[in-house]
Amino acid sequence: MAKYIAVAGKGGVGKTTFTALLLRQMVHQKRGISVLAVDADPNANLGEALGLTVTATISELLEQTKDPKAIPEGMPKQIFIEYKLQQSLVETKDIDLLVMGGPQGAGCYCYPNDLLRKYIENIGDNYDFVVVDSEAGLEHISRRTIPRIDEMFVVSDSSARGIRSAGRVHELIRGLKSAVSNLHLIVTKTSEGTMESLSEEIERTGLSVIGDIPLDPLVVEYDLAGKPLFDLPEDAVSVKAVESILNRAGIFN
Ligand SMILES: Nc1ncnc2c1ncn2[C@@H]1O[C@H](COP(=O)(O)OP(=O)(O)OP(=O)(O)O)[C@@H](O)[C@H]1O
Ligand SMILES: [Mg+2]
Repeated sequence: MAKYIAVAGKGGVGKTTFTALLLRQMVHQKRGISVLAVDADPNANLGEALGLTVTATISELLEQTKDPKAIPEGMPKQIFIEYKLQQSLVETKDIDLLVMGGPQGAGCYCYPNDLLRKYIENIGDNYDFVVVDSEAGLEHISRRTIPRIDEMFVVSDSSARGIRSAGRVHELIRGLKSAVSNLHLIVTKTSEGTMESLSEEIERTGLSVIGDIPLDPLVVEYDLAGKPLFDLPEDAVSVKAVESILNRAGIFN
């Protein structure tokens, strides 16, 4: 059974950066593991961070199935939707990627959503790990498109406001029906003294810190140059920080 890992937090705190570096570290540390990365953020850019080209999101492909004329003659709609879902998977040697995309048109489009849930549950179990870059509202987790979470990383930037909002994400998670087994707080873009100055705010969230990721000039440089974070060198401070977070979380145990 796959281990489900989710990364959550408010906009712009560093979720995608952490997710990309986590994936990088996972495939470097354990050769041969299979990982499904899921970009559940409507403003999807995990593909870019991983250096993968995404041609269509699940939302776009499902949108196409709304038009009865698009369905090949004689093909049951369910088969057509499943075929479309399979088209959305970007496959590479170590990591496959699914991009959810933005919300579909007005109203509930529950039928594909149920199929999407089943699809993710089915393919999820073909992998050792499913790693989800979540959106701030945890939509896919609360709607159970993502079946369960074994390990959740709540990300905050180095501001007091960011930590308070991580506290609210924690509240949200506690209110979810689906169980989250292990919860960790990560503070990103830290510099000297950040953790000490935020310690009271952190305590109030009720979350325990598994580590911080320092502000890394190389992350800024790669971001500006549009280079995949997946290609950051071994000795980059952010890469080292994610390595120790991964070890502390005991993800491979
Ligand atoms: N450790 C770091 N050092 C330097 N810059 C960082 C670091 N982590 C993130 N950033 C920068 O902060 C910005 C936001 O990061 P990122 O895209 O990872 O956040 P996010 O939470 O995924 O945002 P969104 O909610 O928009 O998806 C980016 O410009 C990124 O390069
Ligand atoms: Mg992001």
